[in-house]
Amino acid sequence: MSYAEIYESWKSDPEGFWMTEAERIEWTKKPSKALWDRGDNIYEWFADGEVNTCWNALDRHVEAGHGDQVAVIYDSPVTGTKREITFAELLADTARFAGALRRQGVEPGDRVVIYMPMIPETVTAMLACARIGAIHSVVFGGFAAHELAVRIDDAKPRAMIAASCGIEPGRTVPYKPLLDGAIEQAKHKPDFTVVFQREQCPGEMTDGRDHDWEAFQEGAEPADCVPVRGDHPAYILYTSGTTGAPKGVVRPTGGHLVAMNWTMKAIYNVDPGEVFWAASDVGWVVGHSYIVYAPLIHRNTTVLFEGKPVGTPDASTFWRVISEHKVRSFFTAPTAFRAVKREDPKAEMLKDWDISHLRAIYLAGERADPDTIEWAQNVTGKPVYDHWWQTETGWTIAGNPVGIEALPVKIGSPTVAMPGYEIHILDDEGKEVPAGTLGAIAVKLPLPPGTLPTLWNAPERFQKSYLSHFPGYYETGDAGMMDADGYLWIMARTDDVINVAGHRLSTGAMEEVLAGHPDVAECAVVGVADDFKGQLPMGLVCLTKGVNRPHEEIEAECVKRVRDQIGPVAAFKLCKVVDRLPKTRSGKILRRTIAAIADGTEVKVPATIDDPSVIDEMRDNVSALGYPKQK
Ligand code: COA
Ligand code: AMP
Repeated sequence: MSYAEIYESWKSDPEGFWMTEAERIEWTKKPSKALWDRGDNIYEWFADGEVNTCWNALDRHVEAGHGDQVAVIYDSPVTGTKREITFAELLADTARFAGALRRQGVEPGDRVVIYMPMIPETVTAMLACARIGAIHSVVFGGFAAHELAVRIDDAKPRAMIAASCGIEPGRTVPYKPLLDGAIEQAKHKPDFTVVFQREQCPGEMTDGRDHDWEAFQEGAEPADCVPVRGDHPAYILYTSGTTGAPKGVVRPTGGHLVAMNWTMKAIYNVDPGEVFWAASDVGWVVGHSYIVYAPLIHRNTTVLFEGKPVGTPDASTFWRVISEHKVRSFFTAPTAFRAVKREDPKAEMLKDWDISHLRAIYLAGERADPDTIEWAQNVTGKPVYDHWWQTETGWTIAGNPVGIEALPVKIGSPTVAMPGYEIHILDDEGKEVPAGTLGAIAVKLPLPPGTLPTLWNAPERFQKSYLSHFPGYYETGDAGMMDADGYLWIMARTDDVINVAGHRLSTGAMEEVLAGHPDVAECAVVGVADDFKGQLPMGLVCLTKGVNRPHEEIEAECVKRVRDQIGPVAAFKLCKVVDRLPKTRSGKILRRTIAAIADGTEVKVPATIDDPSVIDEMRDNVSALGYPKQK
């Protein structure tokens, strides 16, 4: 069937479409129906089914005779390690660790926060939680103790699982002190922690609370899978919103299994047994969906890569991994290719590697600029597919359904709506705009299986952030347009979320940190365009009256504050003390105007501006930071 036929078959019978897809999952009790309308625009999928994620990711493959197939290829240039783990081995490790968690009192529904780098034990920890019905929440290693503490207080975990350190090119990042600091800062205290000690930097253990990974599992009975309801949360993943409080995206078990399984062939075009590689991090949604869950559920071999596109050791790493492990489909963020291109513009290093097994490259996480797409296409000779989605959806909203039918690529567009998503472009009043016109991108409710039904602990925030602006629709937070062929074009965020090197960050959260500096009276953080990372945060701070210290000192303190409180991943390095900020007469800071000045794009000064002379002042201020950049 063609894409158009499949899309139509979903549209004319969504219930039948998803019930058929649900047949490919092993349920202990089959759901009686797919969609559950809970009122108030809240929908759930496969709610009365009973199922276990770990069973579907591991046990069923072993039972079907695939125990010897490699499940995970751990390739770690930062430690010089390569290791293959079969489905049978991963199952044994996971069942044992799950048994140890149970022995220590972890029950179905308990939360477990995981703060770990890209090592096999992280996959074991995640699947072990799923095995016993515990809800994991993985926190990205580039976040600082304060961010971890915020997530601990929201998720209220019974247990935390961490590694003693992560390894960045050229430096070891000790996680254990960050874990200790976060537990100290948080109001909620976990009952216990399990720490995987890495030889690069073992952590100091706290007696009575911290357990060593190995000792913790000694003598533990392997745990069986605990069936949970289809609407039971598989995990919570925090993502950036407009304020400093991150949003806890809830991923329900049943829909997640069905959707993950569907995407592996339809979008990524791999068959069971083939090797799939998503070069991201388990701390992000791409890592949850496409390093861990989808490949394993679909019985693909997944590559767990602990390294960077460059510097570990050089720009040939991507080509080496693709070649050595015979990767079929490769998924990364455009910024990763920009990093490779910057070091090896002609891809000379590719010549040493045979990437003939590779069928296609997939990009997501941020806008894929045409230069990067064309470069990747030209040097590899492979098709490059952009696709657009979010932490909230967990899988592609718009993409190229290559496993069904490869649609013609229009460079700059992530292609078309996937079955399950009815995309509309709306104006401010919620009216559909004509093809080719910019508007807010919204998805008609209900969202498909695998997407978020709510935010953890925050049902009102869920309604307010996503459902209230356009009744009957999910508001994506992205603006864009659809052309006459139904191709989508993503232009910008409509909120204060920015995207730095494929990492989603909140300028509001950075402003909260800056505002906490004793000398700062008010501030603005905006995202400015950057050729390499896509965007960078830029902070402009006004000082409290009477503060007389050197500005450079305060600027350096502000930079350090954001690094210490949010983390290095914020990449906050541009900060300037200014006399005043452009504002409307009612006192609203004109952040978009500031960003336009820094980007050197057309500056539309609103008529409501309080004092237009501040614009020239702002030009001088951003120019002192080197913006706009000379092309
Ligand atoms: N633990 C600790 N620190 C981390 C970290 C982690 N897991 N990840 C990043 N950091 C640190 C970096 O070391 C860097 O520190 P520095 O300021 O001391 O140099 C800082 O956070 C900023 O990191 P980043 O913005 O990632 O810049 P980079 O120069 O280290 O790497 C890329 C740039 C493009 C190589 C890298 O961002 C990348 O591979 N991006 C792909 C993004 C991705 O996977 N997105 C998910 C969606 S697909
Ligand atoms: P995250 O939740 O971290 O996956 O970030 C989601 C956001 O990243 C989206 O709402 C977009 O703003 C942006 N994004 C992701 N993929 C794309 C893409 N292919 N093109 C443009 N923007 C994207």
